[in-house]
Amino acid sequence: MIELKSAQQREKMRRAGRIVAEVLEILKTRVQAGVRTRDLDEVAEAEIRARGGIPAFKGYRGYPASVCVSVNEQVVHGIPGSRVLRRNDLVSLDLGAVVDGFVGDAAISVFVDGPPNHAAATLMRVTEAALWAGIAAAKVGARVGDVSAAVQEEVEAHGFSVVRDFVGHGVGRAMHEDPQVPNYGVRGRGALLRPGLAIAIEPMVNQGGHEVDVLEDGWTVVTRDGSLSCHFEHTIFVDPQGPEILTQNAKDLV
Ligand code: MF3
Ligand code: CO
Repeated sequence: MIELKSAQQREKMRRAGRIVAEVLEILKTRVQAGVRTRDLDEVAEAEIRARGGIPAFKGYRGYPASVCVSVNEQVVHGIPGSRVLRRNDLVSLDLGAVVDGFVGDAAISVFVDGPPNHAAATLMRVTEAALWAGIAAAKVGARVGDVSAAVQEEVEAHGFSVVRDFVGHGVGRAMHEDPQVPNYGVRGRGALLRPGLAIAIEPMVNQGGHEVDVLEDGWTVVTRDGSLSCHFEHTIFVDPQGPEILTQNAKDLV
């Protein structure tokens, strides 16, 4: 069942989204060679709570941390720990916060001191462009398949592949609500996008094949071929005036 958000609920989601955006901005500045991924988690939890939010991921199906830190061939759901970041690592940071019972969910990817090579830089640029293509397609009256196809086309036009085993999603009181928002699909298919629908669009893009595996920790998703993977995510509202992005920093608004 797809739930549309009331004006009051939207206001709560805006607050949750703002916290996620602000804390991701802080974490981004902490992504440096020599930093342990666990250090990023400590910052994430403290900064979410300092803003009156609650980490959305911690305890979710037993997930032990407030942020997912996925490095290089790790796709999503990397658990912060003793790993130390190194120059040229591709680091995805996925963060969720709850305010008054409503969730904001977003992810960014960054390189430690720049990309290792041109192809890696292209992977990151294309993954972010795919997110924006998906957001642009999320208009009132469009369908989920329009968003999915927009993401997929941007990715595959550059020879990369979209992960199929994990998808974007509706978001609200629960982190994962209907509808599912795959990063592949067919225009004109799927649920209709109505005003007040809140969705998280989150392309997960592999440099090589789309196949992934989950490590023995039960969480960390990695590319099967060991190729690099990149991830960007925003929570948005579908609105007659165009998509409203909840997890974007004020300074990045155009
Ligand atoms: N952004 C991720 C998602 O939408 C966050 C989930 S991580 C978890 O699925 F650890 F909380 F599961
Ligand atoms: Co998500």
